[in-house]
Amino acid sequence: MSHTVVFYQGDLTWTVEAEPGENMLALSRRCDAPVQTLCNGVGTCVQCKVRVDLADLPKLSPPTALEKDRLGNLSHLTGERMGCQCCPVADVRLEILDGRLRRRSRRQR
Ligand code: FES
Repeated sequence: MSHTVVFYQGDLTWTVEAEPGENMLALSRRCDAPVQTLCNGVGTCVQCKVRVDLADLPKLSPPTALEKDRLGNLSHLTGERMGCQCCPVADVRLEILDGRLRRRSRRQR
């Protein structure tokens, strides 16, 4: 059973139908959504972060051990997930987090 995944960043959206087992990084590539990666999905760069509304967390596969190691066990508070480590289990909308913008905003503080 496929699920509809909508990536968004600001006013821009990208929609794709997910096949079972496809992770968010792979899906972003299929619809040209700009989810970042430096490790090509190996799980080492953490550039692929996406965010869902907290109420939508159950619409994603549970965090993997690798994801918990990289992000900590805080996704239930932040809604942030690693795109290369999670798959949709229902129709879902995800915000693309731009790593360059995050770093820039930290320096401005
Ligand atoms: S793509 Fe590098 S950690 Fe997900």
